[in-house]
Amino acid sequence: MQDERGLIEEAHSLGGDYFLLKIAAPRIAATAKPGNFVMVRVSPSRDPLLRRPLGLLESRPPYIWLYYQVLGHGTKLLSGLRPGDGLDILGPLGNTFPELPGKRVLLVAGGRGIVPLFHYARAYGEHRPLLLLYGGRRRADLPLLERIKTLCLQGLFIFSEDGSLGQMGLLTDGLEKIVREERVDATMSCGPEAMLARVALLLKSRGLENRASLEALMGCGFGACHSCVVLAADGSYRKVCDEGPVFPLEEIQWRT
Ligand SMILES: Cc1cc2nc3c(=O)[nH]c(=O)nc-3n(C[C@H](O)[C@H](O)[C@H](O)COP(=O)(O)OP(=O)(O)OC[C@H]3O[C@@H](n4cnc5c(N)ncnc54)[C@H](O)[C@@H]3O)c2cc1C
Ligand code: FES
Repeated sequence: MQDERGLIEEAHSLGGDYFLLKIAAPRIAATAKPGNFVMVRVSPSRDPLLRRPLGLLESRPPYIWLYYQVLGHGTKLLSGLRPGDGLDILGPLGNTFPELPGKRVLLVAGGRGIVPLFHYARAYGEHRPLLLLYGGRRRADLPLLERIKTLCLQGLFIFSEDGSLGQMGLLTDGLEKIVREERVDATMSCGPEAMLARVALLLKSRGLENRASLEALMGCGFGACHSCVVLAADGSYRKVCDEGPVFPLEEIQWRT
C-alpha cells in the first residue's frame, strides 16, 4: 500500500453519470492486480474529509484507469478534474480475484461492477477461456461496451432492463442458461447487492467456484475503522477493505 500523487492524463465523460480517468501513477500501476481497489482523495480541502474507494479498470504501468459513476458529493468533485490535475491515491488495497488457470470462468458484471472484472479480463483473457455477462438498467448504463469489445473473451452476453441494448431483462435472467450451456467452472461477480444476492441463490449447490467483489461504505480502506463490515454466513463479520473486497460468494450472508 502506498500513497501516490497521480497525474491525470485524460478525463472523459462517457455520457450520463459515467466518467473515465487515465492517471499516471507508476508505483500503484506496477503492483495492482485484478480485484484491488484504491482510496482517492477527491479534493485537496477537508471537504469531504474521507477518501472514496474506487476499483481499477485497468493498470498498465505507468497508468491506471478509473471508471466511476457520480453518486454524491465526492464523485461529483472528481468529475470536475481535468488533465494536468494531481490526485492523491492510496493503494493498491484489498485482496484480488484468483487466477484459476485452466478453469472456464464467467464474469458477471452489473453496471459499474464491470470495473474489477474488466481488469481481470484484460490481465488474464489471453491465457484462459473467459466469458462476460454484463447488464444494466439501460444502454446509457453500459457505456464501456466499445472498450469491452477490445477484451479477449470467448463469449459476451449483454442484458438491459428496458431492452435498449442486448437482451431485455435482468442479467440474472440469463445466468443459469449460460452456466449450463457454456460449461462454466467458476464465476466472478461484482454489482449491486441485490444482484449478488440473486447470483448467490441461483448458483447455490451447482458445485462451481464462485467469488464476488463487494462494495461498502469505507472510512479508511485498510482495516482500522470497522466502517465497512458485512455479515458472513456463519454470523461473524468481515471487513470488506482488508479481508475483501473479494469473497467466496457462499461466505456472505445475503439479504434477499
Ligand atoms: C471496494 C470498492 C470499489 C468501488 N469501485 C467503484 C468503481 O470502480 N466505480 C464507482 O463508480 N464506484 C465504485 N465504488 C463505489 C464508490 O466508492 C461510491 O460510489 C463513492 O464512494 C460515493 O461517493 P460520493 O461522495 O460520490 O457519494 P456520497 O455522498 O458518499 O454518497 C451518495 C449516496 O450514495 C450512497 N453510497 C455511497 N457509497 C456507496 C457504496 N459503496 N455503495 C452503495 N451506495 C453508496 C450513500 O449512502 C449516499 O446515499 C466502490 C466501492 C468500494 C467499496
Ligand atoms: S474501511 Fe476502515 S476498516 Fe474497512
